Amino acid sequence: MPLIHSLYPLLRPLLFKLDAETAHEWTVKMMKFAHGLGLLKSEIRNPKSEITVMELKFPNCVGLAAGMDKSASAVDAWLACGFGHVEVGTLTPRPQHGNPKPRLFRLIKNDAIINRMGFNNPGISAAVAQLEKRSSQGIVGVNIGKNFDTPNENAADDYLKCLRAAYRVADYIAVNISSPNTKGLRDLQAEEPVRRLVSALKEEQAKLSAQHGTIVPLVVKIAPDLDTTQIEMLARVFSEMQLDGLIATNTTLSRTSVEQHPFAKEAGGLSGAPLNQRSTEVIAAFRQLLPKTIPIIGVGGIMSAADAQVKMNAGASLVQVYTGLVYRGPGLISEIAKLPSS
Ligand SMILES: Cc1cc2nc3c(=O)[nH]c(=O)nc-3n(C[C@H](O)[C@H](O)[C@H](O)COP(=O)(O)O)c2cc1C
Repeated sequence: MPLIHSLYPLLRPLLFKLDAETAHEWTVKMMKFAHGLGLLKSEIRNPKSEITVMELKFPNCVGLAAGMDKSASAVDAWLACGFGHVEVGTLTPRPQHGNPKPRLFRLIKNDAIINRMGFNNPGISAAVAQLEKRSSQGIVGVNIGKNFDTPNENAADDYLKCLRAAYRVADYIAVNISSPNTKGLRDLQAEEPVRRLVSALKEEQAKLSAQHGTIVPLVVKIAPDLDTTQIEMLARVFSEMQLDGLIATNTTLSRTSVEQHPFAKEAGGLSGAPLNQRSTEVIAAFRQLLPKTIPIIGVGGIMSAADAQVKMNAGASLVQVYTGLVYRGPGLISEIAKLPSS
């Protein structure tokens, strides 16, 4: 087991003394430093955990969810920690600062986080440059979005720019239309805009695959705050467009079960334990409606291997974690990575 896994119970109280965003920055720096010293070497390699999804061979089912490494600066470190894949971003065409601070809040007694980061990121070119410097193999997804000041009518241009820029360095591309922290972004989940966007991206994917000789799968990341009619509509559109995969879900606007918390009224998306059940319901609903050719990556409130197994029983082929990593530490990765693939 890497040293960092056993050290986390000691590190966590220190990190939790810092404000949440500073702790996050320190964590990424520490990961890079520890990796540089060779302290992260993970021995988790179990042929029984290997799984092929979207024609990509994943060493295990657990990945790092988008948002933790927005600039793709520590990919080698995350992979060395035992993750079977890492999703970087969200990246936008131009760099942007995101929303004013404070914008990240821990709801410790609920094992939850509220964030309204607003796609703070160095821009797609800087992230691509980072990915070109990678020293390890391993699957990397590039999560793409639009700049905050790009109107929705022109959103496709932003996503297309990011798709073209990242195509060479990505194993898959995740199209984020579900962050609650970019005004109007979730409106792209409505029928007409989603149809237009996905069809433009699929068309470009076909051109790029002819150019590069490889098909980089295109997956869409959706919100948990969709009703049954919206889920049915999206499943129909994704099936028709032959989307390569779905990520369910992003953070929620709901505050059910955290209403009593002093931070409950902070604007932003809620993640962690309170999101667990809803994200599983959304995965199960899509699994019923989508053809088997469209795999689902399940994310939302996974705090243990048992939670990951519930997501897979609901129809997820792979899972991702973010908030669970903050509260449980990197031991969570090895716990989930040991699960046999089904
Ligand atoms: C601080 C923070 C920042 C996030 N940033 C992004 C992002 O940039 N893009 C994205 O698609 N999801 C982002 N997410 C959502 C996560 O990828 C994930 O979908 C969500 O947090 C639910 O998983 P969890 O309960 O394991 O955290 C972010 C989540 C958090 C907590």
